Amino acid sequence: MHAYGVKRERFVRQFVNRFLTLEGIGVLFLDSEFRVVEVSEMICSFFGFARADIANKSAEEWFEAAGLRPYPFDRSLLEGQAFRNRVLDWKQGPFSRKLMIDGEALEDNGERTGAFILFRDVSHQMVLEEQIRRSDRLKTIGQIAAGTAHEIRNPLTAIKGFMQLLNKSLNDRGMDKEQGYVGIVLSELERVNGLVSEFLLLSKPKEIKRDWMEIGQVVQEIMPMIQNEAIMHNVTVLYYPQPGLPPILADKELLKQVFLNLGKNAIEAMGEGGTLIIREHGDPGGSDKLAAEFIDTGPGIPPDVLDKVFDPFFTTKPQGTGLGLSVCQRIVDDLGGTIEVSSDEHGTEFTVWLPCAKT
Ligand SMILES: Nc1ncnc2c1ncn2[C@@H]1O[C@H](COP(=O)(O)OP(=O)(O)O)[C@@H](O)[C@H]1O
Ligand SMILES: [Mg+2]
Repeated sequence: MHAYGVKRERFVRQFVNRFLTLEGIGVLFLDSEFRVVEVSEMICSFFGFARADIANKSAEEWFEAAGLRPYPFDRSLLEGQAFRNRVLDWKQGPFSRKLMIDGEALEDNGERTGAFILFRDVSHQMVLEEQIRRSDRLKTIGQIAAGTAHEIRNPLTAIKGFMQLLNKSLNDRGMDKEQGYVGIVLSELERVNGLVSEFLLLSKPKEIKRDWMEIGQVVQEIMPMIQNEAIMHNVTVLYYPQPGLPPILADKELLKQVFLNLGKNAIEAMGEGGTLIIREHGDPGGSDKLAAEFIDTGPGIPPDVLDKVFDPFFTTKPQGTGLGLSVCQRIVDDLGGTIEVSSDEHGTEFTVWLPCAKT
């Protein structure tokens, strides 16, 4: 019995030592004063500090040092308020990560001795799940759009043609007031037409042409249009090209549409003034994807709205169609990429990941 106990203890110790060095899962032990007793390597490397930096510090001191706000948990944990699957958003330079954390108090003979908190990095799963949900929603909408868009476009073309004829006759007869009315009809028709075009893009991508190209080249080509829009709203546009990135495999016209939509949204969000930053970078994780980012200094997107912005017809603008981001999502999906958003009260950041050549 004694030998068994010793063996068991050794095993548990080995397990704990190994556990403390695991990469995908981390653990933090707190004493009854809420001070850090032990922390595993995963947490140190994830938040970028050494073990000695936080040993014996209170959890709050650690939250402050790591910039974790709001605090992911509080002292009620010591009173037995366990939690499960709490999501912790963590921003690290341009990358945002998601951790899932569980916490529970520890007891010894009815006496509370402290607590432990488990951390799992779920960034990848969460992004994938969200992408799947979004694509599913889009597919359904796409089917409806495909059925109606053509039905709307055909009569529109006829109406537009006859309106132009009417305009000419009114002009010949010098009927200026009536001609003004027709002008309004024509410009409203243009708006409907634009809407239907976005609809068609949503419904089914036309032939996608995949070519190798420099991402910087695509950005350069839309810059004049973005600058134009920016000047009208007093927005400063800063573009940081990154030379030496591998070429991407994409459809240039479709990708331009994505970047334009993101640029336009950013400028519209800021109203008057502000800065739009456009930059490119590879993936430090070494995947065969690279990113284009659109970062603005606008008011940000409230958390409860954030997961709706890609929904077709979701808009907060009086004149918005709510189709811009759905179209972006659809196109990026079809190009084999992903699109991510993160936002706080200081601004919003859209990141488009696109497949590129292996370096
Ligand atoms: N950069 C941004 N900053 C703040 N909110 C944004 C930003 N981009 C998009 N949004 C929000 O997402 C909504 C949907 O955008 P979008 O699909 O392009 O449609 P629209 O621009 O027609 O409203 C916008 O109405 C806005 O509320
Ligand atoms: Mg838009």
